[in-house]
Amino acid sequence: MPAPAVMMPDSEPVHERIIEWYHSFQRDLPWRREDCSPWGVFVSEVMLQQTPVARVLPRWEEWLHRWPTPADCAAAPTAEILTVWDRLGYPRRALRLQQAAQAMVTEHGGEVPATSDQLRALPGVGEYTAAAVACFAYQQPEVVVDTNVRRVLVRVFTGAPTAGKTYTAAQRRLAHDVFPDPELDDGGLACTWNIAAMELGSLVCTAKSPACDRCPVREMCTWVASGSPAPSQDERPRGQPWHGTDRQVRGAIMAALREAAATQRPVDEHTLLEALPLPHASTEQRRRCLESLLADGLAERQGQSIALPGIF
Ligand code: ADE
Repeated sequence: MPAPAVMMPDSEPVHERIIEWYHSFQRDLPWRREDCSPWGVFVSEVMLQQTPVARVLPRWEEWLHRWPTPADCAAAPTAEILTVWDRLGYPRRALRLQQAAQAMVTEHGGEVPATSDQLRALPGVGEYTAAAVACFAYQQPEVVVDTNVRRVLVRVFTGAPTAGKTYTAAQRRLAHDVFPDPELDDGGLACTWNIAAMELGSLVCTAKSPACDRCPVREMCTWVASGSPAPSQDERPRGQPWHGTDRQVRGAIMAALREAAATQRPVDEHTLLEALPLPHASTEQRRRCLESLLADGLAERQGQSIALPGIF
């Protein structure tokens, strides 16, 4: 007998329940507080692009303490920017963040711009970050969709176990179709929906071990109603490999350069590459990674010496 068709739920009761849940269970994160500046929100969204909340928190605090405005960040030595970024990973984001701060100074009177189109034109800002900053810093009812939101939407409304790697056209249509009316409550409901769906995806509707017993919409969820089918082998969430990767080797080179930058010193190229604490990394891999950091503008070379930008 064919399985009974599972109906897609109406979006309003889903909004209501997830928002109510959010009011009780949201994390108290500094960039969500009422007194957080648009700049604080902007910095948080760039840091959170590829790094978990727990690792971002201390770096965000330090960043906002040192550079409380875009102008402070724009004027900082780049070596210091990369040092405070520390081990957040993907350090090109730090360079872009400073370039965005510089564009805010030269083109927006030192302020974080308020529309998603202006935000989108800044270095390092894509569709997600532009919508998130417009919404969380300026209460614009933009559709904000990160991986967590995508997973909540596809499970609740389509029954798929995972959202896959890429944001598909069908997912974008779904996110817009089920988005609360931006006119309601002056757009406040739409903004709260964005953050509430994101928080549910982070804390309950997780990729690896969803806690459906704690989910406010389990009775409405299409995935649960379909028997919570497991993802296929190639859809299973996999952690990003780290050991032995070029990212690991680049990270070790950056750590050595940050240490030397603390005393304004360059380091000898040969000594730098020899001393990396990664016995498995070949000479060829070490060289390739250094060249890629130089090409990305994350390091500079003068003769046989290497340093963070601005040290020479
Ligand atoms: N609050 C606002 N944006 C967020 C994000 N990207 N991740 C976690 N919490 C957030």
